[in-house]
Amino acid sequence: MSRKILVVSGHTDLKNNSFANKIILERLNEIMPEAEYLYLDSEYPDFKFDVEKEQERLRAADIIVLQFPFFWYGVPSLMHKWMEDVFVHGFSHGSKGKALVGKKLLLSFTSGAPEEMYQAGGPQGYPVDDFIIPLKQFAKACSMEFAGYIYSGGLSYASRHDDEKLKQMREKALLHAEKVSEKIRSL
Ligand SMILES: Cc1cc2nc3c(=O)[nH]c(=O)nc-3n(C[C@H](O)[C@H](O)[C@H](O)COP(=O)(O)O)c2cc1C
Repeated sequence: MSRKILVVSGHTDLKNNSFANKIILERLNEIMPEAEYLYLDSEYPDFKFDVEKEQERLRAADIIVLQFPFFWYGVPSLMHKWMEDVFVHGFSHGSKGKALVGKKLLLSFTSGAPEEMYQAGGPQGYPVDDFIIPLKQFAKACSMEFAGYIYSGGLSYASRHDDEKLKQMREKALLHAEKVSEKIRSL
């Protein structure tokens, strides 16, 4: 039986203010058309979620992929609000909250700072793994299996007017999408 994949995009403005996440999602759509894609910015521009609808969507999924840009070392506000409103006691956790038991949670994210800046003593202070500890524990608290992450750095806003850098960032974003699909297939 085929497993149902749900990819949730947490970017706050994919249409007007994204380079990398947009490319990643477009490519993922091409290589994994069987997945369901939820774009929080287009579906919920006002941050007011249809909680029942979103809980049903999650219930139906076997693999949940969170696709997001690192905004202040974590998920963007929109994705955080979605987590706050949809993953509630009695649904995702608590003695009666068993809806997500055993589902796999995969993270797919990008950062502006290059990978090598994320290390102890470096400009970003800590390895990237340290910043995702809350999401790992989020998976555990919701009885989901944390399936790891695919991460690409150096996808900076500052490089958006440099043609050569844009070309490299595009290649990196495309490769990122391939890695995400390979990872999903391996789960
Ligand atoms: C509000 C905001 C906060 C950001 N915070 C971080 C950060 O904490 N660390 C980092 O490396 N990059 C940070 N960035 C850069 C983004 O992570 C980067 O531009 C994004 O991953 C690229 O994806 P996109 O082109 O789809 O927006 C931030 C960007 C914005 C707009």
